[in-house]
Amino acid sequence: MSAVTTDQLIKPHGGELVDRTGERPDDVESLETVTLSPRELADLDMLASGALSPLTGFMSSADYERVVDDMRLASGLPWALPVCLAVANDPSGDRIALADESGRPLAVLEVEEIYSYDKEREAERCFRTTDDAHPGVARLYGQPDRYVAGAVTVFERQEPSFPELHKDPRDTRTVFAERGWKRVVGFQTRNPIHRAHEYLTKCALETVDGLLIHPLVGETKSDDVPATTRVKAYDVLINGYYPQDRVVVSAFPAAMRYAGPREAIWHAICRKNYGCSHFIVGRDHAGVGDYYGTYDAQLIFDEFEPHELDIEPMFFEHSFWCKVCGQMATPKTCPHSGDDHVFLSGTKVRELLSQGELPPAEFSRPEVAEVLIEAYRSN
Ligand code: ADX
Repeated sequence: MSAVTTDQLIKPHGGELVDRTGERPDDVESLETVTLSPRELADLDMLASGALSPLTGFMSSADYERVVDDMRLASGLPWALPVCLAVANDPSGDRIALADESGRPLAVLEVEEIYSYDKEREAERCFRTTDDAHPGVARLYGQPDRYVAGAVTVFERQEPSFPELHKDPRDTRTVFAERGWKRVVGFQTRNPIHRAHEYLTKCALETVDGLLIHPLVGETKSDDVPATTRVKAYDVLINGYYPQDRVVVSAFPAAMRYAGPREAIWHAICRKNYGCSHFIVGRDHAGVGDYYGTYDAQLIFDEFEPHELDIEPMFFEHSFWCKVCGQMATPKTCPHSGDDHVFLSGTKVRELLSQGELPPAEFSRPEVAEVLIEAYRSN
């Protein structure tokens, strides 16, 4: 038991932090085994730790249908994306073992229901497209046709990919409480922290007690910067440019869905479970290609009453370096024209790095750019 009380922090979604860890049952070896995909494994781990509170397992059809239709669980509590387990063959027993790709059993699922689902409908509702060029849609179309639902008990946690950055919701809550924080802003990212990200996080930190930099380290698409490189870059940036007593850096184990607006809601709810009272949503949050409007991931928050989510989104417009202002800004705070602004697309940055060129210091801190270029060189 921790000595500090976490009572002053925002309550987990649904009121209680779920804990789905437990004892290894004696009969695991005799159970039918389902091997999970990397995305499902990440979800399993988040179910175990309470990051997906109030979920206790993979979703029933009642929860799934309501989530797909109107972003709520069957109970009416907001929830934006399915957390489901797809199976090729209907299990016959009332319990199954869940294993990682090496076949090692990690958890047991009490089979509550096995059901069919409509992939195109899930794609259209959750990803706003049925185009299989969208990475989330492609993943959905490629998975088996039935979902198995039920509560899970995880008896073996997966080895975290970045042990030094591993913190369950219980742990982040304890750290926040120890530091005396009440208002904590969470920052999701799947990229190195460039100047634009630094600007958002620091503007947000100006108005709250602490900042949780919470990079996603689960599965991402192949052309995103790998998490190992990003983690090195976070390290140099945060050591050099952030006040240590105001920032916690920890890995968010989820896989990317690239569901844009719905994923922004889902990301916010998860961060609420980690103890964040605020959550940053900038331009094209969790977007990919041009499937979503620049601010769709902000507009979607209007579909809920503020008290329903509880966690407060902090919206930021597209940020850039303005040569005339001589600082980072957004169209909200800068009157100058686009010609005066330094902004590079991800594609442009990758192009520069692959040619051995550093992106300009107005775009990326030199220390961060060095880490990125080094990673490109050694590839
Ligand atoms: S994401 O998939 O995790 O959203 P990314 O790591 O690029 O991608 O973004 C992290 C957060 O920063 C998101 O909230 C995103 O909207 C925001 N963001 C990224 N770049 C900018 C920018 N130039 N201006 C404003 N917000 C930005």
